[in-house]
Amino acid sequence: MSAPAPRIVPVALGERSYDVLIGQGLLAESGARLAPFFRRPRTVIVSDETVAGLHLDTLKAGLTEAGIAAEAVRVPSGEASKSWPMLERVVEALLAAKIERDDVVIALGGGVIGDLAGFACAILRRGVAFIQIPTSLLAQVDSSVGGKTGINSPLGKNLIGAFHQPRHVMIDIDVLDTLDGRQFLAGYGEVVKYGLLGDAGFFDWLERMGTRLRDGDKGARIEAVERSVAAKAGIVSRDEKENGERALLNLGHTFAHALEAATGYSDRLLHGEAVAIGTGLAFALSSRLGLCAQETPSRVGEHFAQMGLKRSLADIEGSLPDATGLIELMAQDKKVRDGVPAFILARGIGDAFVSRDVPPEAVRAVLEEALSQRR
Ligand code: GLY
Repeated sequence: MSAPAPRIVPVALGERSYDVLIGQGLLAESGARLAPFFRRPRTVIVSDETVAGLHLDTLKAGLTEAGIAAEAVRVPSGEASKSWPMLERVVEALLAAKIERDDVVIALGGGVIGDLAGFACAILRRGVAFIQIPTSLLAQVDSSVGGKTGINSPLGKNLIGAFHQPRHVMIDIDVLDTLDGRQFLAGYGEVVKYGLLGDAGFFDWLERMGTRLRDGDKGARIEAVERSVAAKAGIVSRDEKENGERALLNLGHTFAHALEAATGYSDRLLHGEAVAIGTGLAFALSSRLGLCAQETPSRVGEHFAQMGLKRSLADIEGSLPDATGLIELMAQDKKVRDGVPAFILARGIGDAFVSRDVPPEAVRAVLEEALSQRR
């Protein structure tokens, strides 16, 4: 039986508008699917060692069918590649491959590759087009859409970057089959985010369907990715440069960034896991401030537990700083204004808003309570 026709989600940004294509078996069809974007039949694919090992040959074979010649530049897998040295390597490789202003580069990989390749394209010859082919769930539902690109500084995550929208995003759901369970669940933390921040009906659906999509149901996966991408596309179309609504996508991220810093951006805690735990803390904070019902944080936590996702500070192995230490790490967040971090709070499931005047003692109380459950 052939796969159903791919879904298309438009991202409306005037002359920089583009489509997100979501379906099965798309990598192998990449030549036919992507040929319209190339002025001349050649490209460079930026990828990492792991993803290249799994998917580069399929992508190249697909491109070859349409007569598109592709070179590849690979960087080591992992967050450490969002760095000045790897940016230099990618930019120099694109120049050496004689990529011109009218060419189109392909980013094949997870969030690290999309961010790194996208930023390289933003600065190469003052801007070269690129296509995102995201291969992790996190990249498919979040980072490949919306044009945030960049690298990390030793002083913090994503501190160097540019908005540079992709020309097209092609999401092949089948590549999720090669993700390990932990990576898949980490990306799922970002899927749930869309329900929690603005679509209670989607959260209800995820409560019913979450375990099916975790266990490999392709239809459920396509539906979840499409609904997530549609939510993100809507937000990005209305607030591309994060002057307002787009900040809601940072639900759980103020806590998450502190936890990631505290665990050294290591395998101890993946970004999506930190977001899930941070989301739980954001709901606990909202409840403590009397904004949402007391049962709401438990409902969120129960869904994470049902999925097998990390849900609380007790799920982080090894030592953590005390509440004071975590609050200091939050003050390093890139969204800090006058030293005060922004929090995304919720009046209920599907009803989030940005707040810059959260009483520090409420944040401390939430952290102290969460830390006490580790003992
Ligand atoms: N990942 C958050 C954003 O794209 O705004």
